[in-house]
Amino acid sequence: MLINSHFGDIKETYLFSEIAKRVNDYKAANPTADIIRLGIGDVTQPLPPVAIQALHEAVDEMARAETFRGYGPEQGYDFLREAIAVHDFKARGCDIEPDEIFVSDGAKSDTANFTDLFGDGNIIGISNPVYPVYLDSNVLAGHAGSPAGDGYQNIRYLDCLEENGFKPQIPDGRLDIVYLCSPNNPSGVALTRDDLKKWVDYALANKTLILYDAAYESFIREDGIPHSIYEIPEARKVAVEFRSFSKTAGFTGLRCAYTVVPKTLEVTMSDSSKPLKLHAMWLRRQTTKFNGVPYIVQRAAAALYTPEGREQIRKTIDLYLENAKTIRSVFEEKGFKVWGGINSPYVWLKVPEGMTSWQFFDELLHRYHIVGTPGSGFGTRGEGYFRLTGFGSPEKTREAAERLRRI
Ligand code: MLT
Repeated sequence: MLINSHFGDIKETYLFSEIAKRVNDYKAANPTADIIRLGIGDVTQPLPPVAIQALHEAVDEMARAETFRGYGPEQGYDFLREAIAVHDFKARGCDIEPDEIFVSDGAKSDTANFTDLFGDGNIIGISNPVYPVYLDSNVLAGHAGSPAGDGYQNIRYLDCLEENGFKPQIPDGRLDIVYLCSPNNPSGVALTRDDLKKWVDYALANKTLILYDAAYESFIREDGIPHSIYEIPEARKVAVEFRSFSKTAGFTGLRCAYTVVPKTLEVTMSDSSKPLKLHAMWLRRQTTKFNGVPYIVQRAAAALYTPEGREQIRKTIDLYLENAKTIRSVFEEKGFKVWGGINSPYVWLKVPEGMTSWQFFDELLHRYHIVGTPGSGFGTRGEGYFRLTGFGSPEKTREAAERLRRI
């Protein structure tokens, strides 16, 4: 039998599985350790009451023959797509129509599945450090090319360093595709309107496709930071945007997200002058491989757009941002260099001189029973840095801060 040989080109375990394994091993050897998990960005607060109520009502509908629903539209029910278009886009002046929105089970799966649309040989820009899914999914699809040095033949790393405020810089050469994530995972840094405009101008001039991950958009609190790439004029011609209800509304276990593929987005294949519409391709891909998000889950997502829903979400996100501030403050007090944690649930810090990210991980776990994520897990340029999340409960986060004060 022949298998996908690209599995041989990738790290054996996914970053967060590796961390879970190390923590479980430690816990097995030290069963009394009271471990505080601030590693993977998983939420701790329950679903907003509006979502719970909508779920109950939708379950009741499914229990009656007259209101029961079978297969839904693969791209999502109109009631949800319309609410998204109105509240997330039109309210911010972005010209996005409901039929340009594809409801899905997650931004992780959408960003990874989007690689189905591309051939091999594209030059792909990826930040370093980066959310590992963008790179790994391209490696598995064979689009990254053969391993070369620390990276891959077709990958151009956009180094995000202290010197450039951890923001990807416009490269000298041309990229076919670039992944941008703002507010960023892992660094917590958000791109400003000027930063994004530079990328959109670059993409227009170079016919580059921008894959824009805005999964943490709802954490933005400062002015001057776009919530959507479509706030930048002409972005409709060059960008796909990924959004998620996971971190916005605690849907990590319920699963609902969406991807915007504007109808104006055309790509020209290198061997043909005929432009192809990515919208038609993604629709074809989804209708073939995906049967849609459960009706009850989409009802829960739609309820988030009611005034009560928006208020409930805001409160929970404020709580996570307060946690992030608590973590940020304790490291600042201790003299660490810290980024993020302001428009983002992620706090990114520089580990003490002479330590690697994994050594700092072990130190925090063994000595303080706190789990974080080593920066090197996000790429070579993440070495020497560390990520903690504001997604814990307020009590556990305060307890973690107390322990960290002893550092
Ligand atoms: C993270 O910790 O980076 C996130 O949980 C990853 C994800 O959302 O898949």
